[in-house]
Amino acid sequence: MIPESFIQELLSRVDIVDVVERYVPLRKAGANYSACCPFHSEKTPSFTVSASKQFYHCFGCGAHGSAISFVMQYAGLGFIDAVEELASNMGMTVPRDAPERHAESAAKKAPLTELMARATKFYRDQLKQSPKAIDYLKGRGLSGEIASRFGMGYAPDDWQGLQQVFPNYDDQALAECGLIIVNEQGRRYDRFRDRIMFPILDQRGNVIGFGGRVIGDGEPKYLNSPETPIFEKGRELYGLSQARKSIHDADTVIVVEGYMDVVGLAQLGVENVVASLGTATTGMHVQKLLKQANRVIFCFDRDSAGDRAARRAMENSLEHLVDGKSVEILQMPGNQDPDEFIRENGKEDFQRLVGNATRLSEYLVREIRKDISLTNAEGRAQLVQEAKPLLQKVAAPVLRVQLTKEIATLAQLSQAEVEAQCGLKPLARGRPAFAPRGRVTTRPLEHTLLQVILQRPEWAVRIPLERLAEDQEETQALSVIANMVEHGQPVGGAGQMLETFRGQPCETIVAQVLSELTLEEPDLATLELVLTDAIERLRVRSVKSEIDARKKDLSPEEWRELLARKTAKTSAPE
Ligand code: UTP
Ligand code: MN
Repeated sequence: MIPESFIQELLSRVDIVDVVERYVPLRKAGANYSACCPFHSEKTPSFTVSASKQFYHCFGCGAHGSAISFVMQYAGLGFIDAVEELASNMGMTVPRDAPERHAESAAKKAPLTELMARATKFYRDQLKQSPKAIDYLKGRGLSGEIASRFGMGYAPDDWQGLQQVFPNYDDQALAECGLIIVNEQGRRYDRFRDRIMFPILDQRGNVIGFGGRVIGDGEPKYLNSPETPIFEKGRELYGLSQARKSIHDADTVIVVEGYMDVVGLAQLGVENVVASLGTATTGMHVQKLLKQANRVIFCFDRDSAGDRAARRAMENSLEHLVDGKSVEILQMPGNQDPDEFIRENGKEDFQRLVGNATRLSEYLVREIRKDISLTNAEGRAQLVQEAKPLLQKVAAPVLRVQLTKEIATLAQLSQAEVEAQCGLKPLARGRPAFAPRGRVTTRPLEHTLLQVILQRPEWAVRIPLERLAEDQEETQALSVIANMVEHGQPVGGAGQMLETFRGQPCETIVAQVLSELTLEEPDLATLELVLTDAIERLRVRSVKSEIDARKKDLSPEEWRELLARKTAKTSAPE
């Protein structure tokens, strides 16, 4: 048996979008991703993956489930093998008695990471023997202690340096993991020569790639490992493994552009820092980072490339914003990068910059009004047009309202007018977004409640369970969730929830409701309304049934009292 707590931990770490994307190319469609369904044949995509819910659903064939179900269904694995597969990709070990069972892919990757480890050791040993490399690092203000914490090394100026540790230099695996290059004539030589080496680690601490910097001037300044079976650039962040504890302690992660920034900041005591690997900030990075800390600060050099990168990071972050978490942009003053800045001005000045970083919402407003004159009507109209695609991406409901209000003020419009022009659903009005449209709802209140609670499990404790109909499947699911919340057990998103209910009698109803919710983004204000309304209707329903049951033997006073109870409004929720 795999402990339930491990399943939940695993699901809180994996991202279903990453998992599905390994097998099926996904396209962004609104807040979700879509593709042609891998489980039935179709020409137009009806397969939907929701990142916020960690859940997939096909509107064509009804396939649905968590990241685990996807791997089971797609790869044809059993539950345990699917868990093993996901865990090994995340660098997690499944706590079980029989460690000899390993996912096949882990076994395949092992030799490559093994080679990378051996190369890392070689480069580190070479660094110790190279006064030239040591001088270079010293000249950049780095101590041996920091170099060693980051496993830094030196690739000697030698075409076949690695032959010293790989007597079998012809091994195909050396090329496969990007350490050697085979040219058209079949000649083999080391990819990295005469460079300072920065190993890139995965979550487990395995070396999966390298960045190599020339000593002094030269082109290219940095040479990086190619994409290999163990190294996917858009996914990884340099320094995460070393920074993890300090990110957790500070509840903040600083994202910089370069290897040297990470190492240079760490040298002066700022350790909660990672670097994107020379690629633009991706949504995947943002998602990954928001799982590690409540505050994410992107740091950019103040040049035109840096400004463009900041704008891209903003655009890629919007849809991952969560109310209560903060994404910020720090544009370095002058033309120094973080490494140069901290060396010249020290840790405190750098921390001050970080403290004054610009919140993404403020940056967004600043960006769109940058080249617009608000003194005339045309300019104000243009402002709303510029804001439209960005506002549409903001998933966090409270933040979206705040931004909409801000834009409205600038454009001299009302909030409702901006919402209408930008095609935004107003938050607190109208029918609940997730009620089935176009047909009469005859669903019981329990069903509505389960819809709300599957989006906001922590509200389960507000439901008067004693008033729910016992014969409804929904009631059972609601009780289980309320019980979990009361006992402080993590409930998690849709995907996690589904795993909690796997094999239980109410699994079907939970899966059904989650499927109904696939396209809905939780919208706090509306959910709150629906919940209070449903609780009120429950109250009325139970008084009514009390009346029905006692109709015959009521005295006139009791009648009056009951009727009064039926119409009395309950007090507003806190
Ligand atoms: P920078 O050119 O800003 O370098 O590139 P840096 O980090 O300040 O390095 P130093 O201080 O000059 O040593 C930022 C990042 O872009 C990627 C690397 O990841 C680098 O850290 N890059 C840059 C490359 O991959 N290749 C290059 O040729 C240049
Ligand atoms: Mn630099």
